[in-house]
Order: sequence, then structure tokens, then C-alpha cells
Amino acid sequence: MKTSRYLCLRERGPTVVLFHELHPVPIYIKKSDWDEFQGDMTRYFDWIDDLMKEGLLIETDLVDDQAYVDAKKMAQESLSVPRILYLILAQGCNFSCGYCPIPRLSEAERSKCLSKEDACAGLDLWEKHVKESNADENYIIFYGGEPLLNKETFCFCLEEIARRKSNGSLPVGTAMMLATNGTLLDENLMSLCRTHDVLVALGVDGPKSRNDKLRVYATNGNGTYDDILAKLKMLQVHGVRTAVSTSLTPHVLGSLQELDKLLQEVGVTKYGINFLKGKGLIDMVSEENRMSFVNASVEEIINRYRSTGDASYEYQVEKKIRAFKERAFFPIDCTCYGNQLVIRADGGVSNCPFYDAKLGHVALLPESFRISQTKVVEEWRKRSPLEDPSFKDEDGKALAGNGCAWSSIDAYGNPWHTDEAAKQFSLTMFEIALWLEAPNEEKNT
Ligand SMILES: C[S@@+](CC[C@H](N)C(=O)[O-])C[C@H]1O[C@@H](n2cnc3c(N)ncnc32)[C@H](O)[C@@H]1O
Repeated sequence: MKTSRYLCLRERGPTVVLFHELHPVPIYIKKSDWDEFQGDMTRYFDWIDDLMKEGLLIETDLVDDQAYVDAKKMAQESLSVPRILYLILAQGCNFSCGYCPIPRLSEAERSKCLSKEDACAGLDLWEKHVKESNADENYIIFYGGEPLLNKETFCFCLEEIARRKSNGSLPVGTAMMLATNGTLLDENLMSLCRTHDVLVALGVDGPKSRNDKLRVYATNGNGTYDDILAKLKMLQVHGVRTAVSTSLTPHVLGSLQELDKLLQEVGVTKYGINFLKGKGLIDMVSEENRMSFVNASVEEIINRYRSTGDASYEYQVEKKIRAFKERAFFPIDCTCYGNQLVIRADGGVSNCPFYDAKLGHVALLPESFRISQTKVVEEWRKRSPLEDPSFKDEDGKALAGNGCAWSSIDAYGNPWHTDEAAKQFSLTMFEIALWLEAPNEEKNT
């Protein structure tokens, strides 16, 4: 019997936690026992069975080889489950946020709106994806640009999706989300969102003085905070489920606690932070300051979690903690690796709402088309922490996903460039998660 090459260890006070690098189910033992065992591996301790069960004590190297094959297979399988259909209702936007890639699109593309026919073709294709998987839950996200520039197709889709759910062609567990800047919402749309149980996610980039620096109207450059907050309050009054998302630009950094208070005052209970991505990051943060900006962004999210202990409020923290607790290792950072189908405003199909993968028009695809089997997905999956050389010596890699490939392409012209924010965030969350189930005071240190 010998120790696995994947055996990893952390110490805290009198306790050590042992874990397998590829499936880190934590085993907490007394440090003094572990030291004794290492001196004499014939000694018996009652945790030895657990170490064997987790593949930390092995008879031959073949066990380790198999563990790597299994981890890769598990990660690949979870990336093939259909989870999200994006319907890009409008490519254009009435905002011009300084970091957003949408204004860089050509004038012609900006005016594109998704037709009802293409929306239906997208739903037909999505039904095929969903039917073949065992997943009973999936999301349809209305996105843009600003999706409410195309209210007609939005209202049509709500009826169409309800019809498909009631005749069984879409699962009843199909949930809907509208990602919007909120300003074009009216009473009628709010009441439709409530009736159809659509979660409305509004972008708010910090308190007013911060938000209004970059989240501005396209026509006159005026700030948008007051208008967004007014709509957020109206949504609450109408009983619509709401969430807020913030893009963490240099202007927002340092203001999340203040925003937190403002959002709690208006009753927001779900919140998500986006790390700044793509050229937005390159343009706004100089190369020499980039790593410290990335680290500060990660710290800001994690410090908030550390100070409140509340894992259910902020979406990225919640995802990592849940993945660790449910042992869903190599969790999904982004659904672009085969979990999502994107129907662009012109009917083109892609795997990412920010990226035109040019996979063909939705109405003209072959019967056998599945997003998880496309070339772009195959290429992007090579970013996996199991293959990315920058993760080679990181033994917390099992809580990492693949970060954002679009960001790497947009910023560095290379789909395999490491997404540093996603990487640092995952590794730090791993160190926290590892001690959450510790039996004593070590867990809170
Ligand atoms: C593209 S917008 C579309 C929906 C809607 N118009 C809105 O304002 O929320 C969706 C989200 O993407 C975020 N976003 C845009 N560009 C980004 C970037 N470069 N990095 C991170 N998030 C970005 C926006 O802040 C917004 O929350």
C-alpha cells in the first residue's frame, strides 16, 4: 500500500485535512495521528478505510491513472448537459456601457432583431437538445444588446413557451430569465413577467456615482442609475422575481458593500457579480496593474462572503460552494463549453452570446446538430483546468471551471489564454470550502 500521487494536504492548528486532487472529499484527522502513520504505515487508524475509499491509499499506480480518466470523463459529461438557451432578441442597445462589446458590432448588426420564426426554430432545436438529456431543469434567457428593444418577440415567446410546456414538448422545469437594463420595462411587461414567472435580472454597476460613469444612455451619455432603481422598485411592487448583476469595473471596485445596502433596502435577495472581461479589461486596466486589479476584484467578492458567511446571495460564491458540497468537481464557470445554445438576433447559431461562432442559421441546420458536438466547443474545452498548463501545480484545481473563452479571444486573440480572475477566484474559494465541513473551530479560522 502507498500514497496516491494525488494525495494533498493542508494543516490548520492540530488538524490536517487530506484530499484527492481530482475529487477532493475532505478527510479531517489529527495531525499527530497523520505524523505517526507516515512514520509507520502498518499502524491502524480508523480513518484508513476512508483514505482507501477516496483513492488516497492505493495498491498500484493504475488506480491513479484511472482517477485521471474518470475526472476527465466526469468533467466532459457535465459540459454536455443542455442547460441554457439564449435568445438574443435584439443586437442593439439603448445603453452604451464603456466596457461592453456590443457597440463594437457593425451598424448593420446593431439593428437586428430576432424574428418570431427564428425564435420558434430556436425553441424547436432546444427541445431536441433537452429531450435527449436527463436534465429536468433548463433555463431560457432573453438577452441582448437590450432584449426589450424587441418587445414583440419577447411577448410572443412567453406565450409560445407556455404552450410548449403545457403540451409537454418543453419540460415543466423550463425556467425563464430576462437580462435587461430595465429602462424599457412597462406595467404590461411587468405583469407578463409575473404571470409567466420570469426572473428579471437588472444590471446595476455600483451606487449612483459609480454606475453613472459607464452605464449611460447611448443617445446622450446621461447616467442611468435613477431610472434603473425606479424600475427595480416597480418590479418589486408588481411581485416580479428580480435579481441584480454588477460588472466589476475599476469604477465599481470598493463600492460593493455600499451597493449591497442599497439593494437590500429595495428587497433584492439575489445578486451576481461579473468579472470584467475581454477588451473592456484591457482598455480600462493597464498591463502592469492588471494582476492587482484581478486580485482586488476576487478579494472584494470573497471578503463580502467571509464577512457575512452567506453563500446564497452572490451567484458565483453560491455556485462554488454548492459544487464543493455536492461533489460536482470541475464545475461550470461558463456554459459556453457545450451547455448552452445561443440564437443570435439574425438567426445565427453560436455557443456564446458575445461571440459569433458562425455555426449556421437556426432554420437551416442539419437534423443531427447538437451544440456540444461542434468544433468550437471541442476547441474551447481544451481550456479545462485538467489540461491548462497554468493549473499543473495547483492542487485546488477541482473547484475550477474553464473561465471565459470569449474574454481570452477578445482580449488576447487566444482561446486558451488563462482567465486569471476565474482561476484566482476558484482557487481561493477552494481553500475556504475545504474547511467548511471541519469538525471543530478550524472551520472558522
Ligand atoms: C450584454 S448585457 C445584455 C443585457 C442588458 N442589456 C443589460 O444591460 O443587462 C448583459 C450583462 O453583460 C455585462 N457585460 C457587458 N460587457 C461586459 C464585459 N466586458 N465584462 C463583464 N461583463 C460585461 C453587462 O454589464 C450586463 O450586466
